[in-house]
Amino acid sequence: MSALAHLIPEFEGWKARYPAGFEGSLTIPCLQRIQEVHGWVSDAHIDALVDYLGVPRTQVDEVLGFYTMLRREPIGRHHLQVCHNVSCTLRGAEGLLAHLCLRLGIAPGETTPDGRFTLSTVECLASCGTAPMLMLNETYHENLTPASVDALLEGCP
Ligand code: FES
Repeated sequence: MSALAHLIPEFEGWKARYPAGFEGSLTIPCLQRIQEVHGWVSDAHIDALVDYLGVPRTQVDEVLGFYTMLRREPIGRHHLQVCHNVSCTLRGAEGLLAHLCLRLGIAPGETTPDGRFTLSTVECLASCGTAPMLMLNETYHENLTPASVDALLEGCP
């Protein structure tokens, strides 16, 4: 059975909106949905998507390689993405990052051994006016201090 059998009915609805021959345009939305449901995109998902869309494997690989928000490995339940671009850096992002590394015992790009947190650094998330900031899963947290970061971590089950 396809690794995407549970998502195909949803994908079919999207496919019906595209003219025949443009199935490749569904690559990004399908990958986003796979990640939303599974947290990451596995080899089995890619194989199934290639079969379903009838696109070359390289097309899917290129999309996955280009968009850093699409993940090829599982991550922790809580994904902390710390902006370390100019405005956030000028307003203390490096200190916040060091604080998070110390609190969590991991470096950027790593996941805590209990699978609770993954820490990443990202470029500008377009919230420069409320720097420094981070994204926790899908939510922005702004005007951060070490104390507000601690409170944020404590609220994560
Ligand atoms: S520099 Fe951090 S949100 Fe723009």
